[in-house]
Amino acid sequence: MHRGGLFLTLLLLMVTRDSETCFSRPNISAVEGEPFFLKHCSSSHTSENEETSVRWYKSSKSNGRTELNPSSSPRITMYDNTLEFWPLELEDQGSYFSQMGNDTQERTLTVTRRNTHSCFNEKQVTSKPVEVEKALEIPCTNDYYQKLIKKTSLYKNCEKLAEDNSSLFMRKNAEFSDQGFYSCVFSLYHNGKSYNITKTYNIIVTKGQKNMAPVLIGPKINYVEVELGKDVQLNCSALMNENDIIYWSFWKEMDQFSNIQEEGKKTWISEGKSYASKILRIEKVKENDLSFSYNCTVVNQEKTDTSMFILLRKASKDDIPGDIFTGGMIVAILISVVVVCLVIMGIIYRVDLALFYRKLMRRDETLKDGKTYDAFVSYLKDGCSENAEEYTFAVETLPRVLEKHFGYKLCIFERDVVPGGAVVDEIHSLIEKSRRLIIVLSKSYMSNEVRYELESELHEALVERKIKIILIEFTPATEFSFLPQSVKLLKSHRVLQWKAGKSLSSNSRFWKDLLYLMPAKATKPSKGESEALPIFSAY
Ligand SMILES: *[C@@H]1O[C@H](CO)[C@@H](O)[C@H](O)[C@H]1NC(C)=O
Ligand SMILES: *[C@@H]1O[C@H](CO)[C@@H](O)[C@H](O)[C@H]1NC(C)=O
Ligand SMILES: *[C@@H]1O[C@H](CO)[C@@H](O)[C@H](O)[C@H]1NC(C)=O
Ligand SMILES: *[C@@H]1O[C@H](CO)[C@@H](O)[C@H](O)[C@H]1NC(C)=O
Ligand SMILES: *[C@@H]1O[C@H](CO)[C@@H](O)[C@H](O)[C@H]1NC(C)=O
Ligand SMILES: *[C@@H]1O[C@H](CO)[C@@H](O)[C@H](O)[C@H]1NC(C)=O
Repeated sequence: MHRGGLFLTLLLLMVTRDSETCFSRPNISAVEGEPFFLKHCSSSHTSENEETSVRWYKSSKSNGRTELNPSSSPRITMYDNTLEFWPLELEDQGSYFSQMGNDTQERTLTVTRRNTHSCFNEKQVTSKPVEVEKALEIPCTNDYYQKLIKKTSLYKNCEKLAEDNSSLFMRKNAEFSDQGFYSCVFSLYHNGKSYNITKTYNIIVTKGQKNMAPVLIGPKINYVEVELGKDVQLNCSALMNENDIIYWSFWKEMDQFSNIQEEGKKTWISEGKSYASKILRIEKVKENDLSFSYNCTVVNQEKTDTSMFILLRKASKDDIPGDIFTGGMIVAILISVVVVCLVIMGIIYRVDLALFYRKLMRRDETLKDGKTYDAFVSYLKDGCSENAEEYTFAVETLPRVLEKHFGYKLCIFERDVVPGGAVVDEIHSLIEKSRRLIIVLSKSYMSNEVRYELESELHEALVERKIKIILIEFTPATEFSFLPQSVKLLKSHRVLQWKAGKSLSSNSRFWKDLLYLMPAKATKPSKGESEALPIFSAY
């Protein structure tokens, strides 16, 4: 027997001393053949001191009331305030009176026959329900006969489980298989004779109602967005025992209840755990239903758990809530991204855009300035170093595109000016009548003969800003050992590079850039017209 068991035994002895040894119950049942005793229950110590002797009377239908004395039966002895039977027999059945002073106590004793087929008597059984997995305790102790007991045996359904020469105490966690009749048999000796006292427990193992602490599912505080005028359902769910209580509570004036309904509890079992939920319905949410705390509570003996539900007005279209603000931010960012992209595109395609704009607005810069030519093409041939490519470009390609395709009027010295004239003067006056000066820069152009002229024109154009210069690098400028100072001063976007392969198409970047630098001109002469009019003849 372990310590806990022993401790419990002692505790039980202390508790049972008065209740079990002193039968204050009026009706007592006992088994034939076992030692038995009746005790007068003294109500107070004072009376015990004054009157020590107890008188015992037995009344039976046949004999009436007779006083018992030690000589009336060898089986019956009187000891202090106790009447002992060694052992009890069927004939002892009847009513017993004990008298101490003028305090009389009566008990009715019923003696049942001993059971010859079993180790215990079914009528002398104490039922003891035990929950499964809870402590099952069977104390085999007999307080009154403690000193006389020589052996204690424990039987389960009349099969011996344990034996000890003092008391026995069984303690274990109850299992369903533990159910049965447990009999404690105390063997004792008295006056050289052996007696048995049997105490039987009917152990009933019950399905434990393991009550756990209930918990609500979800956060402790719930914010529920609602639109005014709409219905809302607050769903409160809990993990709880079947009989736990779940309810809604809220503070409201009575007349505000009309649109609030608490629905019935719904229960379900999932993975062996039982759940319940309760819905609070608020119909057509009103202004005064908002910002209230609706509490859902689950409760049992062990624990209470509460969750708060607070209704918040959902932003309607007239409000400017946080969502829309962040939305606005996103839109603003998107717009600025788009704008930045557009600006970048605009920078990349500014030429195309400008050309498109010109076309769209039918802009024309050539109408009122009184000039004859749109551009003077300066390709001055150095007699000794003629370059066929450059000549072709300046005299054929350039006019073909600009004049026939885009309707410009060019003045090409080589083509339009009659050879033999006063070259320098003529050049000067032609340039004055032109809106742009196109210089085709090539090696052969840089011959000494023309350099002075070019220098002076460039200088005039740059300093006096009389004419805008377009420099076409037919040969890349890096290949030049000598460049006029003025050319270096030209802004880079006024310098176009002719790329023999890529620039041929009239849709190429080269021509677009060139058109962009040329003055805007709205009217396009028909092909035939432009072909029919030799530029110089009009001059
Ligand atoms: C005791 O038993 C008698 C008959 O045996 C019965 O009439 C009486 O009601 C019982 N008293 C109690 C308290 O059980
Ligand atoms: C017994 O009863 C009498 C009267 O009936 C009373 O005077 C006396 O005090 C009682 N004695 C005790 C011990 O109660
Ligand atoms: C109980 O029995 C054991 C032997 O089984 C013995 O040693 C011990 O003294 C006994 N105790 C009592 C109180 O009789
Ligand atoms: C007492 O019980 C034991 C078994 O525990 C048995 O052997 C013995 O005969 C019984 N004695 C009496 C007097 O019934
Ligand atoms: C309430 O919530 C529980 C789970 O949290 C769910 O099983 C149940 O269906 C819900 N009830 C309603 C009416 O939505
Ligand atoms: C709801 O619960 C909160 C916190 O548990 C408590 O302060 C409040 O008074 C409760 N309201 C109601 C109506 O029970």
